[in-house]
Amino acid sequence: MCGIIGYIGSKEATPILLEGLKKLEYRGYDSSGVGVCSAKDGKIIVRKAQGKIRHLEDLIKSHPITHATTGISHTRWATHGAPSHRNSHPHCDVKQTIAVVHNGIIENYQELRQELQKKGVKFVSETDTEVVGHLVAEYFKGDLVKAVQKAIGRVRGAFAFGVICSADPNLLVAARVGSPLIIGIGKGENFIASDVPAILDKTKRVIYLKDGEMAALTRDDVKIWKFDGKPVTPKIDTVTFTVGSAQKEGYPHFMLKEIHEQPHVLAQMIKSRIKNDHVVLDGIGLSDNQLKSIKNIYIVACGTAYHAGMVGKYLIEKIAGIPVVVDAASEFRYREPILQKNTLILSVSQSGETADTLAAVRDARARGAKAITICNAVGSSLVRESDGVLYTHAGPEIGVASTKAYTAQIGMLYLFALKLGELHKKLSDQERHKIIKEFKHIPSLYKTILQQKEHVAQIAKKKFRFGCFLFLGRNVNYPSALEGALKLKEISYIPAEGYAAGEMKHGPIALIDEYRAVVCIAPQSEVYEKMISNIQEIRARKGKITAIATEGDKDISKHADYVIYIPKIDPLLTPLLVAIPLQLIAYYIAVNLGCDVDQPRNLAKSVTVE
Ligand code: M6R
Repeated sequence: MCGIIGYIGSKEATPILLEGLKKLEYRGYDSSGVGVCSAKDGKIIVRKAQGKIRHLEDLIKSHPITHATTGISHTRWATHGAPSHRNSHPHCDVKQTIAVVHNGIIENYQELRQELQKKGVKFVSETDTEVVGHLVAEYFKGDLVKAVQKAIGRVRGAFAFGVICSADPNLLVAARVGSPLIIGIGKGENFIASDVPAILDKTKRVIYLKDGEMAALTRDDVKIWKFDGKPVTPKIDTVTFTVGSAQKEGYPHFMLKEIHEQPHVLAQMIKSRIKNDHVVLDGIGLSDNQLKSIKNIYIVACGTAYHAGMVGKYLIEKIAGIPVVVDAASEFRYREPILQKNTLILSVSQSGETADTLAAVRDARARGAKAITICNAVGSSLVRESDGVLYTHAGPEIGVASTKAYTAQIGMLYLFALKLGELHKKLSDQERHKIIKEFKHIPSLYKTILQQKEHVAQIAKKKFRFGCFLFLGRNVNYPSALEGALKLKEISYIPAEGYAAGEMKHGPIALIDEYRAVVCIAPQSEVYEKMISNIQEIRARKGKITAIATEGDKDISKHADYVIYIPKIDPLLTPLLVAIPLQLIAYYIAVNLGCDVDQPRNLAKSVTVE
């Protein structure tokens, strides 16, 4: 979704803003723009361009901006109004004395627009954001902070704003409700940004602005207030990511780099979360007694995180014997689920900012439920709005297609299931010991699977022209099939369906002919033979099969055109392993098709609007 970076300091703002915007490209966007306060003539200068940031750079090369050390900039992912020059941010008031960048959606913009139009304001864009520029200008009586505060009082919805004003070029004002915004603290310079990677090479000291807070930044100072004017003492956090973690480090795409980071992510998780054969879940926010009293769990999540949640259902029910319902957060929030006294809400999210997941958690907590979040992004909204957090610490995930965040979520769900199994006395010490031993092998098994990437690349070469894919799995690998299909469609744009293999006969089998590519997830497990029957049925109809199977399973190659092997492991852990070949299949097919793997069309990394 949209990205924001703002700068105030003593250096030229424009190159810093452009650099920051490039680091936010991964969020998904269709146009970009910068607005700066010029010290030369006391004016606000704005440059905008549709398309990639290089178009904005070209424009700035041909129409340079100098002598401006305060500025805001934005990558826009269209919501209100088509991607175009006039709809891109920053948006200004009529006299171009105020400039605003905005993430989020202003719900009452139509009524504000009509009110301003009646006063003679001429609008130049179709956006919801433009009203803010005009409102701030209307309320500006020499104090930008007060004007922004008044304007905020008029808008409803979700927003993160950055505002500058030609009358006070040494001030940058920011505010947030719903959409994330951080403040970066530098030496003689300060920043605002929608996401840490934008400023990671400038500073690691950040303030996570909270909902209902606004900030005034000068070169040397940051002041924060609640919207009602009550001052807030800022808490400065130090980001632990390295700059390298937000760079490709020699890989052609972030997605491939992140696929390769999975052994490390799981190794770190094992190191920090397993002590003396027990699972340690620091941060969980509920006491052992509270965890013991859980009677049922709702997992809420979206997209890939929802698929991880589906795997979690199998794990928790099997290991801890607690009933679990998994809901797409967008469904949960509108269907009035029945929450009981000891119902736990478990949200799963990479970004911690997904609007639907956040709303589902808010709703459930308002109705008295306790909520834990499995989250990657430190200090995100979901973390703040939950009773406890289980951080996956997968590091920044830049590729829009989630890979390492997914396996880290499953890993954490596995540990959570073990903890509950122990507390609910469903798991003997011996069983726990055995499972933990297997789990500890995952990082080295990942390395073995990654060694086969050339083999997967060769398969992808044979498959990328297929017009439609079917992914089949059973039991704990049914969600793997859904995730395999999602990965492929989002980065290659090939229509792909994930299905529970047992459901094939009830419809999807009609799709099978010699033009259909089918990926069958068939590791050794209690449903292996059922999968083989499905494979036979597909083969009998000339479907083209790629199987993911357990090392040593020679038989399967008789039925499948291609086989990708994963090492032998407890069947419950197989979703962690099969994820890698599925990610690689999607990756190499998309590369063969020449797709923009890291920034697929129409997608945003973090979906902060409903
Ligand atoms: O940040 P979240 O994990 O809450 O995001 C949820 C989905 O938007 C996300 O997983 C999406 O489906 C990815 N693009 C999948 O690769």
